[in-house]
Amino acid sequence: MSYSIKTIGVLTSGGDAPGMNAAVRAVTRAAIINNMRVKAIFRGYKGLIDGEVQEFTSQDVSGIIQRGGTILKSARCAEFMTPEGRKKAYETLQREQIDALIVIGGDGTFTGARDLAQEYNIPIIGIPGTIDNDLWGTDCTIGYDTALNTVMECVDKLRDTGTSHERLFLVEVMGRDAGFLTLNAAIAAGAEAAIIPEREAVAEQLKAAVGQGQRKHKNSSIVLVQEHAVEGGAMAVAKVVEEHHPEYSPRVSILGHLQRGGSPSAYDRIIASRLGCAAIQALLDDQRNIMVGIQNGEIAYVPLVKAIKQKKDIKQDEWEALQTLSI
Ligand code: F6P
Repeated sequence: MSYSIKTIGVLTSGGDAPGMNAAVRAVTRAAIINNMRVKAIFRGYKGLIDGEVQEFTSQDVSGIIQRGGTILKSARCAEFMTPEGRKKAYETLQREQIDALIVIGGDGTFTGARDLAQEYNIPIIGIPGTIDNDLWGTDCTIGYDTALNTVMECVDKLRDTGTSHERLFLVEVMGRDAGFLTLNAAIAAGAEAAIIPEREAVAEQLKAAVGQGQRKHKNSSIVLVQEHAVEGGAMAVAKVVEEHHPEYSPRVSILGHLQRGGSPSAYDRIIASRLGCAAIQALLDDQRNIMVGIQNGEIAYVPLVKAIKQKKDIKQDEWEALQTLSI
């Protein structure tokens, strides 16, 4: 074991994601079993700056694996983006005698971690936790599977009313700049189309979506719209449809933050548990400033800088499957 790491800090940051608690539990217990002390940092980087720190025992993470959200709370912290903010955060780490930091979150969380690691001598391990699934170097992120199932269930319900009234439904799905959640939820729910930022012009996607050619015989349609694929989201798409296709009277459903809630799926609990253990193993192996991810079902260690900088693209076969199956 790395002799210098006696105490680790753990925090969750950015948008919460189902399974974060399972990751906190795994990190805590894997650290304790390896004779490390665990200090939980509340409210992400804000709590690190403000010194909101509490030592965790194994019991502190009992009964949380099934809970959505994060018991550590989360926040988006502008102050941490400044060198002054990171200095205060480092002072907390020193005061609390934290030798290594584990951060659970997405792109923004890792960017903050990278900056802190570049300025101060502190090993940091990132665990990918976001419903957006937009981190390079890992096939999936904690929370994505649960959110996918949530969106799918919502679309299934909308399909019932959509079919009854023979309507076009435009369903707005989260994802920040990425279309993974939208595309795969569209496949899973049998939607007619998905409008995502990664693919061709929105006007073209829309044309394909609203009942040309083969689709004309359908009496109802569901189109999933990624929140930032078009300015104004699904509401803006509805306006365009009303203007150019008066035969439709579309209804809009913005799923919003309910996509981030709920008890994590078995899959998310399992990857969160594996990644939490892998994060501690990485520290034991003297690794630093990396993200632990999953590649082809196996644990992978990826430099934090790469996870942030490289862009993960959607799979072409998934995109094609949606087009093929929505005739
Ligand atoms: O990154 C997770 C996410 O839910 C995105 O999908 C979404 O764009 C964003 O967070 C919403 O952030 P907030 O909760 O701060 O409104």
